[in-house]
Amino acid sequence: MARENLRFPPGFLWGAATAAYQIEGAAREDGRTPSIWDTFSHTPGKVLGGDTGDVAVDHYHRWRDDVRLMADLGLTSYRFSVSWPRVQPTGRGPAVQRGLDFYRGLVDELLAHGIRPMVTLYHWDLPQELEDAFPSGSAAGGGWPERDTAYRFAEYAGIVGEALGDRVEMWSTLNEPWCSAFLGYGSGVHAPGRTDPVAALRAAHHLNLAHGLGAQALREQLPARARIGVSLNPSAVRPLTASAADMDARRRIDALANRVFTGPMLRGTYDDDLVADTARLTDWSFVQDDDLRITRHPLDFLGINYYSPAVVSAATEEDAAGPRKDGHGASEHSPWPGADEHVSFHRAPGELTAMDWPVDPTGLTDLLLEYTAQAPGVPLYVTENGAAYDDKPGEDGQVHDPDRVRYLHSHIAAVHHAILAGADVRGYFLWSLLDNFEWAYGYSKRFGAVHVDYETQARTPKSSAHWYARLAASGELPREYVAD
Ligand code: FCB
Repeated sequence: MARENLRFPPGFLWGAATAAYQIEGAAREDGRTPSIWDTFSHTPGKVLGGDTGDVAVDHYHRWRDDVRLMADLGLTSYRFSVSWPRVQPTGRGPAVQRGLDFYRGLVDELLAHGIRPMVTLYHWDLPQELEDAFPSGSAAGGGWPERDTAYRFAEYAGIVGEALGDRVEMWSTLNEPWCSAFLGYGSGVHAPGRTDPVAALRAAHHLNLAHGLGAQALREQLPARARIGVSLNPSAVRPLTASAADMDARRRIDALANRVFTGPMLRGTYDDDLVADTARLTDWSFVQDDDLRITRHPLDFLGINYYSPAVVSAATEEDAAGPRKDGHGASEHSPWPGADEHVSFHRAPGELTAMDWPVDPTGLTDLLLEYTAQAPGVPLYVTENGAAYDDKPGEDGQVHDPDRVRYLHSHIAAVHHAILAGADVRGYFLWSLLDNFEWAYGYSKRFGAVHVDYETQARTPKSSAHWYARLAASGELPREYVAD
């Protein structure tokens, strides 16, 4: 006898997520100037296959069709990011109206189809001019290690808030600031590709500050009903054993992956252990009076992005030598300032996706419950979750992706589990709507529920898209995974 389906709360949002640089293309159109990702992807050796976002999946020209696709799938929400260099090309000064018009049109089209937009202001495409800027007296070298970038971000947030505030209710300041700071300035596998541990820590603080200043700037522009949050990618970090040494490794990574952002944002502090662990590198004097009051701007929601858990132990000998792979690209440089010689990473159990990321939905339940406890009363959204697989059209022209359906099923069940255990989760955004430019992996990794033929730009919903459409329509997840 079939057991009852898992029912989600009424009004739960079923969405999909994308990011500007990964889908828009039109890199030089309508006044857009290069972002750090344009520069990085055009630098030989940085992105697999020399791929760039110049054309991406041409969403800048195909957005009407893409919205129709979302409507056909019955999505009730869509999370996208605004390209900073498209609306404020130099990262300072007046906005380009053509750039803003693109997003106005997109939002209107979404609303016309009953799809609620969630805008992310920063999904990693810093205007190159800000990376290149050296305000007088700055030793930081521009970009996020430079304090001024946080003030530039606040100005940009105000511009977008003013332009879209009458029609967008859900706003996220930053996407995964951990990646911006520690992959961008630490391991260097993401733009701008710098490898300086102190710059990475400075970047983390200025991203926290940007979040707070940006939230303030949005609040000034937006109607009271608007909700302002942030999307983090907290690490579900587990110790290999319960030994004191492994627990201490867990503590170190929890500090550098999670508390470096949730401390300032939720509690207005950098925890003592984080400061002590990194004391050899910096005295944190870049944190100024009042900063930690600003970073603690009240959150109307917290977005959690989750793909895979991490398993750590005290450093093992073989790990002390050789490059580390951190799941985002290989580098000689560590994204863990002050922790590398103390910690080893281990493969978590579970099948691997095409990213070599282990599949373990319990990490998602754990995180949702953890942040329910850490941010009481703050609604949660899963703002990204999904998996890459090597999807190819079959002879029938259809794209069958049972592995992705299984991944989604187990993770959405994990969300349900968290809700039953008391987490106030209001929506789920599948990463990603479309196959797209997967950062350092270029077009080699496909995360889409909709397949894109990069030669013709033809879109073909995969079986996971049809499966997700049924879920969005019913709001009920079959208890057991059923293959197509
Ligand atoms: C996240 C990013 C998103 C996408 C997924 C796979 O870290 O936010 O843009 O690349 O990973």
